[in-house]
Amino acid sequence: MIIKKEWRILTVGDGDLSFSNALLSHQPKALTASVYDSLATLSGKYGDHFYRQLAANNTPVFFEFDVTKPASWGALPKHSFDLVIFQFPLLPAFRSFSEYQEQAQEISLNTLNRRLLRTFLINAFNHFLDPDGQQLCFITSKDVKPYREWNIENALHLQTDISYLGSVNFEIADFPGYKIRNVERDKFVRDTRGTTYVWGKTKHHEISPELQSPLYQDNHFCTACRAGPFTREEDRMEHSQSKRHKQMMEFEALWLEDLRHLAEK
Ligand SMILES: C[S@@+](CC[C@H](N)C(=O)[O-])C[C@H]1O[C@@H](n2cnc3c(N)ncnc32)[C@H](O)[C@@H]1O
Repeated sequence: MIIKKEWRILTVGDGDLSFSNALLSHQPKALTASVYDSLATLSGKYGDHFYRQLAANNTPVFFEFDVTKPASWGALPKHSFDLVIFQFPLLPAFRSFSEYQEQAQEISLNTLNRRLLRTFLINAFNHFLDPDGQQLCFITSKDVKPYREWNIENALHLQTDISYLGSVNFEIADFPGYKIRNVERDKFVRDTRGTTYVWGKTKHHEISPELQSPLYQDNHFCTACRAGPFTREEDRMEHSQSKRHKQMMEFEALWLEDLRHLAEK
């Protein structure tokens, strides 16, 4: 992950605050952390060790901060950051099976997760990022299900003025003490391989040379499935008949329909 000392950073959806705490070792100009849970819930799940460390460093921490709900942002200063980071975003767990059934019946979980990420990007650029600052948004995610089914590099910023800039490998060793948390559980995710995806307001940013260009983009690949290269037509045909591809095309169609509905509102 690219972190520069002169940047003012906001973290969103931190689990136990271990990521924000580890960010301090990069000595950013300013750091503000936020957590979806309340302090009581966070303490109950993980303990308040990292919160106390951040507090001792005078790092502001916002609790019950829902990136989709401006009413939960409290006194967070508007347009004050250069970079907003959301590590391994995922919908919060449902409180009950009936709640899950209710939600997933109307809108697929895939679409709901894409909505969360898209809303994060839009709110970050409209409310959190300083228009005169660096204007960068990072999402770190994994190339395994369900994350790989969100078409992160292509689908989230459709029909916005936000530009996807590229990616870098996420090296957890650069963040001492960081434990990637599962939603709603006190366990941490062992497979820590991730990729940090980067968005900006302009097509080129001064960090662009450090980023890997969008992957799986030309005719030799299936962009949405992140599959290929297909060197023979038979391979492409076989892929397009596969369960994985058909499922992905369904997700893409649902997402485009959702965007159409949003635009009509
Ligand atoms: C897989 S966990 C990762 C937690 C943490 N970022 C980490 O890397 O350990 C997904 C996180 O997204 C947060 N989240 C989900 N929906 C959110 C929302 N609307 N606003 C802010 N955070 C959210 C959850 O609370 C959860 O902490």
